[in-house]
Amino acid sequence: MLSFMKASTSSAYRGSEYLVGLDLGTSKITVVVAEREGSYGEAQIIGIGQAPSTGIRRGQIVNIDQTVRSLRRAIDDAENMVGENLSEATVAFSGANVQSVKTTGMISLGKAPRSVIRFDIDRVIEAAQTDLSVPSGKMILHTIPVEYSLDGTTGIDDPLGMSGMRLNIELMSVIVPVAIIQNVKNCVTRAGLEVSGLVIKPLASALGTLTPEESVVGSAVVDFGGGTCGVSVFFEGRPKHIAVVPVGGDHITNDIALVMKIPTNKAEEIKKDMALFSDSIVPETPNDLEFEYMGRNYTCPLDKLTDVVRCRVEELFSLYVKDEIAASGVASLPGGLIITGGGSKSAGIDQYLAKIVNMPVRVSLPLDSGRMPPSRNGVEYTCASGIIRYVLERERDPLKYIDSSFESENLEIINPTNAQTPHRKKTVLQYVVNLFRELF
Ligand SMILES: Nc1ncnc2c1ncn2[C@@H]1O[C@H](COP(=O)(O)OP(=O)(O)OP(=O)(O)O)[C@@H](O)[C@H]1O
Ligand SMILES: [Mg+2]
Repeated sequence: MLSFMKASTSSAYRGSEYLVGLDLGTSKITVVVAEREGSYGEAQIIGIGQAPSTGIRRGQIVNIDQTVRSLRRAIDDAENMVGENLSEATVAFSGANVQSVKTTGMISLGKAPRSVIRFDIDRVIEAAQTDLSVPSGKMILHTIPVEYSLDGTTGIDDPLGMSGMRLNIELMSVIVPVAIIQNVKNCVTRAGLEVSGLVIKPLASALGTLTPEESVVGSAVVDFGGGTCGVSVFFEGRPKHIAVVPVGGDHITNDIALVMKIPTNKAEEIKKDMALFSDSIVPETPNDLEFEYMGRNYTCPLDKLTDVVRCRVEELFSLYVKDEIAASGVASLPGGLIITGGGSKSAGIDQYLAKIVNMPVRVSLPLDSGRMPPSRNGVEYTCASGIIRYVLERERDPLKYIDSSFESENLEIINPTNAQTPHRKKTVLQYVVNLFRELF
């Protein structure tokens, strides 16, 4: 299991423990520090450090040196805020080619009903991943049990201790390129922190903002960031689908700059200041937006401006996001679409999106917003605060989100040179133990 992050405190260890989360974003890098008394129980966010992110594009590291520099600045900022030196962090990251794949597995518990033990859970997870082909150069990051059934009774949340003869599982495996993980570890280590855990960003964002009720009835979460939209769908309290769409708010800025022929800085300013999704923005006779920037005069027709922005967002949500939500296989989402991340700050975007996705849309702050530093508790910090929730959830229930990349004694990391390798090899000992169980 994940070992907990203890900040190496310059002062003597005072019985407090620090949990550190690091969000590798396209626009900014965020370091969140939570503290708790002793080693278990709830943690309180005590500081959030951040720095502009310069080496990340579309959620993926494209420049190691720049990323390390940004990381170091964000870590310094957090350390100054909490007055401690940090040594380890759980890192949230994303990137292109993240896949979530569902498989099923079944094992027999014997000829007569008996209680399910931890070993059976390992076996059924292994059965579900036996035929899972992980493409060359990729590996399983998360192994997430979605649903268990015992002797045909479906919807079992935790089968441990329950009796039956046949255990089935529906499993989600989140598969990511090995190179992305290596780059992440390389940058964070070079910036001076040990990586004590990894989490894919859409999962951290969902945990950071989704209420327990929304996650049970069925809801989709979109973290609309600078370079990506992290999508996750939850139903019955479990993630059903996780995806990263490599398009975010920066693409809107670039579209405005390109079509209006204005500098990117000004395009960003216009995007943030104007309610481009609100119905009242375009009056009966469209006005022009006129401004002077660095000694030059510019004119932007308002209707053209809103068209550019709305077209991009419509394409993003009606094509990509909707597709990812459909891929979850969840038929209805009474909890609707929950949007968070910097891109969700555009006034009127919720009403605009509701018409596109055909379901209720709610802009959502971090669940911990009320306990976060006032200037750093907005929608841009949902993912970072969700990392702490992820760490705590894993501690409460180690089988809920299995970090395969850190439990490599159980799960084989795919050799990048082996094409289409089955995920795990059974050991001879496991075969003997299984056989023994089947017989007696
Ligand atoms: N008021 C606003 N209106 C519209 N967009 C905004 C506003 N404020 C910030 N943004 C946009 O939000 C985006 C940054 O969001 P966020 O900080 O969540 O990104 P990130 O986490 O760094 O990126 P990612 O998660 O995609 O890697 C930028 O595109 C920025 O222009
Ligand atoms: Mg983000």
